[in-house]
Amino acid sequence: MSKISIIGAGMTGSTSAAWLAEREIADLVLVDVVEGMPQGKALDLLEAMPVLGKDVVVVGSNDYATTKGSDIVVITAGIPRKPGMSREDLLTTNAEIVGTATRESLKYSPEAIFVVLTNPLDTMAYLTMKVGKLPPQRVVGQAGVLDSARMRAFVALETGVSVENIHCYVMGGHGDEMVPLTRASNIAGIPLDEYLSADKLAAIVERTRKGGGEIVSLLKTGSAYYAPAAAIAQMTEAILKNKHLIVPAAAYMQGEYGLTDMFFGVPVQLGRTGVEKIHEYKLTNDEKAALQKSAAFVKESINILHNLVKI
Ligand code: NAI
Ligand code: 2OP
Repeated sequence: MSKISIIGAGMTGSTSAAWLAEREIADLVLVDVVEGMPQGKALDLLEAMPVLGKDVVVVGSNDYATTKGSDIVVITAGIPRKPGMSREDLLTTNAEIVGTATRESLKYSPEAIFVVLTNPLDTMAYLTMKVGKLPPQRVVGQAGVLDSARMRAFVALETGVSVENIHCYVMGGHGDEMVPLTRASNIAGIPLDEYLSADKLAAIVERTRKGGGEIVSLLKTGSAYYAPAAAIAQMTEAILKNKHLIVPAAAYMQGEYGLTDMFFGVPVQLGRTGVEKIHEYKLTNDEKAALQKSAAFVKESINILHNLVKI
């Protein structure tokens, strides 16, 4: 059985474990700094396995030694947003936490692939790669699967068509400047703008961009976890099963889309080695301009990171 360790057993970490256990693709370890909490959640989940009929071992720990030999390390450790906060407001606190999580995990799983969720996402994925001195293909950030799923859900609500027929692609940084690519999105192959009026489409784009904030303002005490965790489960399964699945996700840019030395949401092909390939769409001038605007925000965040930590 493969092994996935999830660092941070809070809302996204424990929900990721639950979605993953249902897929029966790996034994699971939950690590957190809070004593007893990861152990309690892991035991509870382990006790659900007989009901679900899944042979998955779930262990909770405060000690990274328990993660030894992980195929994948998922980093969700950190603080989430509260109403009024941007994802960038989390940078200082989460940089410290993600740096520690990366270093400690690598001590016990030097070959692991890292899937990062902690915000600000693109910057934290960048930090993981730099702190861990990892090759770019071994680090991927989750954002685009979630943002695209939100767009798909909104299109399904508007059209009444199955979510399975709805394909949406959101590129760019995981912030309000993200770029929902309406031109590349479709319903069973038919372009979205043939189903929806320009006004309705624009409203869906706007709601997608603000999707994270919408949940934060409803929950008031934290941010989304069911959909982000479902995205983590899909991406880690694609890696373990060597599916060569193309998903929108944050990868290290080395000239793709004219961008360098940053993580950014692009179409990424996931397989057993991690990021196998970054696919390059031919973009219109408007799309390129929107991506550049989003990239400028991510670059600014990475500059702040460089002022905080020596990497
Ligand atoms: P949470 O507060 O429920 O869980 C975070 C956990 O991290 C807590 O249990 C905390 O004790 C733990 N933690 C703190 N420092 C740690 C350390 N040094 N080592 C191990 N564990 C540590 O928060 P939630 O909702 O799970 O969110 C986690 C992060 O993921 C946040 O930064 C949030 O903004 C981000 N997020 C990103 C998404 C994305 O699409 N990229 C989607 C949803 C959340
Ligand atoms: C979201 O988009 C919090 O970044 C997270 O829900």
